[in-house]
Amino acid sequence: MSFPKNLISYGEAAVCGVSGLGFQRVDHRLAFPWKHAMTLGGECACYKSFPPRKLSHIDRETRRQDHIMGWEDVMPLQDVTFKDIERSGWNRLAEHYDHFAGSFTSQCVDSILDLAEVGIGTRVLDVACGTGMLAAGANQRGADATGIDFAEEMVTTARRRHPSLTFERGDAEALQYAGGSFDAVVCGFGMLHFADPERAIAEAARVLRPGGRYVFSVWCPPQKAKFFELVMDAIKRWGDPEVATPPAPPMFKFADPATASASLTAAGLQHATTREVTLMWLPSSADEVVAYCYKSSVRLPLLLDPQTESARTKIFDSIRSGAERFRTASGYEVPWPALLCSAERP
Ligand SMILES: C[S@@+](CC[C@H](N)C(=O)[O-])C[C@H]1O[C@@H](n2cnc3c(N)ncnc32)[C@H](O)[C@@H]1O
Repeated sequence: MSFPKNLISYGEAAVCGVSGLGFQRVDHRLAFPWKHAMTLGGECACYKSFPPRKLSHIDRETRRQDHIMGWEDVMPLQDVTFKDIERSGWNRLAEHYDHFAGSFTSQCVDSILDLAEVGIGTRVLDVACGTGMLAAGANQRGADATGIDFAEEMVTTARRRHPSLTFERGDAEALQYAGGSFDAVVCGFGMLHFADPERAIAEAARVLRPGGRYVFSVWCPPQKAKFFELVMDAIKRWGDPEVATPPAPPMFKFADPATASASLTAAGLQHATTREVTLMWLPSSADEVVAYCYKSSVRLPLLLDPQTESARTKIFDSIRSGAERFRTASGYEVPWPALLCSAERP
């Protein structure tokens, strides 16, 4: 079956794959919307759902563009939750992750594992494992590591990258493990993607044994993390920074050390500490800095998609020219300061 490239123009519609694994706004501003849609069902919803079924409230449109008749359901964007968007987003981005964010989140694997006191025989859970770098780092230290992620494409990618390790689908906010199962729980840059981060911290605390260590990392706020500052300034200058986005916790909530420590303590953990580290992204061009917004972020498209076409062009131009501040003799260096937060179960 071939997919037309013009699966577009459903406006404020979101499409749900047949297996119900995720949602994606169908938007002509995305480069290959049909491809994004295809990946929603994890195992390719379009194929599975043929022969096509007619859809209710967009039936007229499906008749006009019968190539989308493979979809089971279509719902208004306002019915799609932040969690739905996160999951479909990470499914779509899994293939790009290690080239973009993973190229520098990997730089703090050892710092996180050190704080979690991971060594030979440590039972480690890597929550929101993405492509599995923390679990793999723990395994290299002789630990017994398991990774979980709610995006099936991430789990598939992690298994492909590290075939000897265990990766499972799982929700950080409802871990499938018994209390006290792990000596250490680590979570690299998952916190700012959780719909209910306090619940995720409570779950991590629950599955730790007494004396077990919990470590998570988050990005510092735009005042310190210059990539975010560049993008946010461009949106403020050329677009509308107040566009409606699905209700979600503030992105940089845990970047405040006091808030992070208080949340760890509120979950019953003790000796909460935070430490800042600076990771370095080395994009090859200013275009790659722009590309990051759509290839390695789920939250930025929520701010960029609703902008007008002309505003978005100006925003991208502005990011591209602003990226010159990161230019060095050999390319580009974008510092990404991060906060590592740790605590221990009493
Ligand atoms: C920025 S990536 C981090 C990947 C990796 N841990 C790292 O340090 O590079 C965020 C990951 O969180 C996952 N995620 C988001 N919400 C989740 C949830 N509720 N449960 C499990 N995984 C979740 C996403 O699927 C994605 O793989």
